[in-house]
This record gives sequence, C-alpha cells and structure tokens, in this order.
Amino acid sequence: MSDRPVPRGPRLRTTLTLLAASALAGGVALAVAPSADAATTLGASAAATGRYFGTAVAANKLSDSTYVGILNREFNAVTPENEMKIDATEPQQNQFSFTNADRIVNHALAQGMKVRGHTLAWYSQQPGWMQSMEGSALRSAMINHITRVATYYRGKVFTWDVVNEAFADSGGGRRDSNLQRTGNDWIEVAFRTARAADPDAKLCYNDYNIDNWTWAKTQGVYNMVRDFKARGVPIDCVGLQSHFNSGSPYASNYRTTMESFAALGVDVQVTELDIEGSGQTQATTYANVVRDCLAVPRCNGITVWGIRDSDSWRASGTPLLFDGSGNKKAAYNSTLEALNAGGTTNPTTPPPTTPPTSPPTSPPVSPTPPTGTTPPPSGTGCTAAYTVNAWTGGFTATVKVSAGSAAVTGWAATLTLPSGSAVTNAWNAQATGSTGAVRFANVSYNGRIAAGSSTEFGFQGTGTPPTGTPACAAS
Ligand code: G3I
Repeated sequence: MSDRPVPRGPRLRTTLTLLAASALAGGVALAVAPSADAATTLGASAAATGRYFGTAVAANKLSDSTYVGILNREFNAVTPENEMKIDATEPQQNQFSFTNADRIVNHALAQGMKVRGHTLAWYSQQPGWMQSMEGSALRSAMINHITRVATYYRGKVFTWDVVNEAFADSGGGRRDSNLQRTGNDWIEVAFRTARAADPDAKLCYNDYNIDNWTWAKTQGVYNMVRDFKARGVPIDCVGLQSHFNSGSPYASNYRTTMESFAALGVDVQVTELDIEGSGQTQATTYANVVRDCLAVPRCNGITVWGIRDSDSWRASGTPLLFDGSGNKKAAYNSTLEALNAGGTTNPTTPPPTTPPTSPPTSPPVSPTPPTGTTPPPSGTGCTAAYTVNAWTGGFTATVKVSAGSAAVTGWAATLTLPSGSAVTNAWNAQATGSTGAVRFANVSYNGRIAAGSSTEFGFQGTGTPPTGTPACAAS
C-alpha cells in the first residue's frame, strides 16, 4: 500500500534555510527560526506528522494559474471533485472515459501528490443508463464498473471511496436507492470487488453527517463497519466528509467518532472538509478539526473540498481556506498552526488483511451473472451459493455459506475448476488444492454459523471459473 507521506523534504529544507539565513542577517536569534516542525505549507506540515493534506480538484480549473499555483504549493494529495464519478467514467455502458480524471491524476502524480479516488459506487451522479437499471443487471454493472475503474487506476490511486453516501439521513439505516434494492449485500460486494481489482489501495466507506458520534447515522455506519470487520469484508477506512455548517456543526465529540472507528481496526480520513463561516470562529473550527485528526494515530490525512471560496460547491458559505482571490484566510493560518503544533504520528498503515495477491491482469470483458445459487437449506447442514465476476483470463468468486435449521460449527465448500484454471488465492477460507476439485474450509473466526444465518468467503483464479453449485459439508 503506497501510504507513505509524499516527500516534500527538499522544498521544506530550502525554505527553512532561507528563513534561518534571513533571521541571522536581520540580527534575530536563530532560536526563533522555524524548526522542522514549523513547515510553511499545509502539505509539508501534515507530512511532518506522517499525514497528507489534500484538496478536491476540478479538471477544468487546471488552466487557472492562481488555482494551480496554490494547489502545487500547498497540497500533497488531491481528490477529483467530479471526474471519477460514475457518470464521468462510464457515460455509456461499458464505454469508459478517463480523460478528465487522467488530467488530474497526471498533474498530481507529476507533482508528487497522492490521489484519492472518488467514487466507485454511489446512488447519485449515475449515468442515465445506470439510473434506469435494477436487480441483477445493475449488480453486474456495478461490479463491472468497479473492476474496470479500479483496475485502470491501480498503482495511481492510494485510497478509493468505494461506496459513497449509502446511509439515510436519519434513523441509522440504509438509504433507499437502485443499488440498495439490488440487495443489502451490495456494499460488501462493492468492497470485495474493489479489493480484487486493486489489492494495494486503501478502501473507504465515505459519507456526510457521520462526524457527530451521537447521531443515528454515525451509529449506523459504525455498526456496518463493525460487522464488516467481524466477517472479514475488506474495508480499510471510513471517510468523514465533514461538511460543517449551522445545520451540521462541528461537535467536540468528533474526536470520539474518529477514535471509535479507529478502534474497529480501520483508518479514518477527513475527506471533504469545508466549514461555513468566516473570521476567527471559522479559524477555530478548522484548528479543532486538525487537532482531532492529529490526536488519532489512524487519522491518515485531511482533504478540503476545494481551494478558494469561489471554488466551493457552497461558495456563498465561504467555507474554505483561501478567499476568492487566492489569499490565505484566518482559517488557513489556524490550520497551518495546528498542523505545526504536531500530534501523534500516523504510522505507515499495515497492508489490507484480506488481499488477493494476484490481481487481475486484464480488464473484465463481461460480468457474469450470479451462478450456482441454491435456496437456503431447510434442514441441518449447510448450502453454498456462488457468484462470479469473470474476465478474459481470470475471475473472482464470492461464496455464501448458509446454515440450515441448526447451527454449524465448521464447514467446507468444494468447487471443481475446469481444466487449465487455478485458484491463486482465497480470503475468509482456507483453500486445499488449487486445480480440479478445490476445498475451501472455514477459518478460525467464521466456522460457527447460527441457524439460518450465513457467512461469505471469496477466491480469485486464473482461467475460466467453475460452474455449478458448490458442495457444502458441515461439521
Ligand atoms: O459541468 C457542468 C456544466 O457544463 C453545466 O453547465 C452545469 C449546469 O448545471 O453543470 C455542471 O456540472 C455540475 C458539476 O458539479 C460541475 O460543476 C453539476 O451540475 C453539479 O451537479 C456538480 O455538483 C457536484 C456535486 O457533488 C454533485 O453531486 C459538485 O461539484 C461536487 O462538489 C459535489 O461533491 C459532493 C461529493 O461528491 C460527495 N459528497 C458531497 C459533495 C458536495 O455535494
């Protein structure tokens, strides 16, 4: 996982040397010259704590020299504001367009900045063809989209917002959408698909109004992440969008939210920060957000949702760090000061826990509809239902193992691969053999399945996938 802070050392050292030299020339004691902890840009200051400081970028502003000047000077991460969304990257089904996203990615990488990908699955900003889809056709289209886009950007995007805004504004439950209506498991399918396509990217669930720990929506997402971690669904991170305003204000329990998610074993990223307001009040809130992130080791970094107030989706709320002319606001100064005050160091994040080790080497040609499904068992024992996503030369498969009317304490599912195919890796199961009949047995944490419940495992392979229903044996 490429989660190293972006090296900004040479520029920082040059700046400090010049400042120290001018301090001496002016007869000022060297002791007041900035230390290595007092970097002079947002990115360099964040990097000194092992974090990034990013901004949303719009491709059509890359010709604005003021905009690009601030971007290159201050930030060491970018998120395409709209250019990686589904309507932008797959405007017609199976016709992918990366031109505008590539403009941002290429600019960022040339500048040594990291790229956050936003977003692979979302109820909003779907292209027309997807908006009118439902059921298994939509599920397959989602899998295909995630696989193609994440594969295309493999090695360039360090973190993906895999799923965006899937929870309802109140009540703590899921938001209704065409994706949600494909089945409650659509989110975990999205994460497994993203992991298979890019095993090295950090995979986030991203949402707004999950900043305040006491809100039902926050609790809903927390429960989902806890469940995902318990069942081995590959999730690495929660993105707190953090659009703060009078209706959704910053709260002092924000740090508790970060700490609580981190305690589940996921990272936290502040993904779309903007704070409506002005002057010292706004500056103080920005500093509070920075302090909270720096206090939590698993808070990887902060992204603001635009550069100048005039670039904001909420421009009238003047929520950003630079005014419309590109001048630094009080909020900029307080943010930089808070970054330079330091905090916990963000350690290099460990690699994902369930990575397939052999990612697909070619894009999928056509997603395969669910195969091999069987109804839930009515008796004791277990059954297995099998879903596959295949492309030329490879496939990933998800197998759902269900207990019947009695709990099982262990299980094994067997599938037979066609000649020439091989399993390259598995997650949430122990594979015996790699060709022919391959047996997948439970691992320590998912052997027990309550009566009527189920668990899932996955595997990846080369060649063509197995067909037919997996045999399931309970113990
Ligand atoms: O580019 C077209 C332009 O050609 C056309 O004339 C104009 C007419 O409306 O629309 C322009 O596209 C707009 C696009 O922003 C670029 O400015 C879209 O209409 C507009 O809907 C789109 O809004 C974006 C919004 O997401 C859409 O949901 C905002 O820029 C973007 O900042 C915002 O970002 C979201 C995050 O993705 C998710 N979290 C919330 C956040 C704020 O809404």
